[in-house]
Amino acid sequence: MQFDQIIDRKDEYSYKWEKYKGKDILPMWVADSEFRCAEPILEALKARVEHGILGYNLPAQYEPGKQAITDWLARRHQWQVELDWIVWVPGVVPAFNMAAKAYCEPGDKVLVQTPNYPPMLAAPKNQQLERLDVPTVEVDGRWTLDFDTLEALAEDPKCKLFIMCNPMNPVGSVMTAEELERVSQICQRHGVTLCSDEIHCDLILEPGITHVPAGKVAGQETSSITLMAASKTFNIAGLGAAFAIIPDSRLRAQFVAAGAGMIPWVNSLGLIATEAAFTQCDDWYDAQLAYLRDNRDYLVREINQIPGLRLLKQDATYLAWIDASGLGIDNPQAYFESKGLGPSPGADFGDKQFVRINFACPRAYLEEAIKRLKA
Ligand SMILES: Cc1ncc(COP(=O)(O)O)c(C=O)c1O
Repeated sequence: MQFDQIIDRKDEYSYKWEKYKGKDILPMWVADSEFRCAEPILEALKARVEHGILGYNLPAQYEPGKQAITDWLARRHQWQVELDWIVWVPGVVPAFNMAAKAYCEPGDKVLVQTPNYPPMLAAPKNQQLERLDVPTVEVDGRWTLDFDTLEALAEDPKCKLFIMCNPMNPVGSVMTAEELERVSQICQRHGVTLCSDEIHCDLILEPGITHVPAGKVAGQETSSITLMAASKTFNIAGLGAAFAIIPDSRLRAQFVAAGAGMIPWVNSLGLIATEAAFTQCDDWYDAQLAYLRDNRDYLVREINQIPGLRLLKQDATYLAWIDASGLGIDNPQAYFESKGLGPSPGADFGDKQFVRINFACPRAYLEEAIKRLKA
C-alpha cells in the first residue's frame, strides 16, 4: 500500500519535522501529509524542470490550469465556475489577509469562528481590524457554529466581513447546505461579505457528506469569495499555489488591488502541480481518502479508550481535535510531548484543553503514537 511507505523528511528542512529534530518526539502537527505525491504530479514537475528555463510566467493567462480547476469543481462539487472568476494566489493565508484589506476600512470588524487555524485568528489584527469571535459548539456529537452569536455580532454596523473556515479546522465539521443557507442569510441581511476558506474541501472522509462551496449558495455569487487549493489534498503545499473564486467583478478587482505590490505571482511549478493534481490523479485521490478514513476510524476508536481523552468522529480533514480536559491537567500539550508525541497546541487555536493531531501519515506512525500514549 503506497500510503504505508515511510519517507524520511528529517533532512529536508520540513516545517513539521524541524521542531522536534534530535528529540524522540513524533511530529504530528503542521497540516501537510507524510505521503509521496501522486506520480503524475511528480512527472509534470520533472518535465517542467527539464525545460530548463524558470523565468517569469503569467498565471492569469494559464488557461489549462484554470480549466483544470473548473473541471474539477464541476466534477467533484457540481459547481459551474467561469474561468475569469479564478484568481491565482500564492497561498490561502495571503488570500484571506487580502480579503480583510480589500473589504474593510480602518475601524471595521471581522467575524471569525473559534477555535480556528491560528493565521485566521490573526488576520483581522494584521489589518488593524477588530476580531469578533463566533464560537463553535458541540450539538449531537458534531461541532457547528453558534448561529445565535453569529447573528448578534453580524448586526454591528461595523462588521463587514466573515472569514469562515469550511470544512472547519481544527474541529473537522463540514457545514450542511442548511447551515450555509443560514450563514448566507445572516451575511446578506447585515451587508457582510463572506470569505470562505475551503482548503480542506476535498478531504471529505465520511460517505454521504457533501461539501457545498460558499459561492454556490444562492445569493452568495455576488457577495462571497471562496478560497481553495490542491495543496492539502495532494500534498503540494510547499509549492505555494492556491486560488480564489470570485464571481463578482467588483469584489474581484478589490481583492486583486489589495495584493498590489506585495503578493507575488504564483510560480510555474505550483501551477503545473495543481493542474496535474486536478486532471490526472483521481485514483491516487480516492485511495488516499480511503486510507485517511481508516486512519480516522482507528484514531477515534483508540483515543476514546484512553481515560481522560475524547475525540468526536469528524466528517472531514486529516486533523483530529482531541479533548484532553478529562486528564485534569493544566498543559495537555506538555503532557503529549512528555509521551513522545508532538501535536499542535490547542492553545494556538483558542482552547488549551485540546490538542490537534495530524493523521495524514502511515498507519505505523499512528500505531506508534497510540502505543506511546498508552504507555
Ligand atoms: C484552514 C487553513 N487555511 C489555510 C491554510 C494554509 O494555506 P496556505 O498554505 O495556502 O497559505 C491551512 C493550513 O494548514 C489551513 O488549515
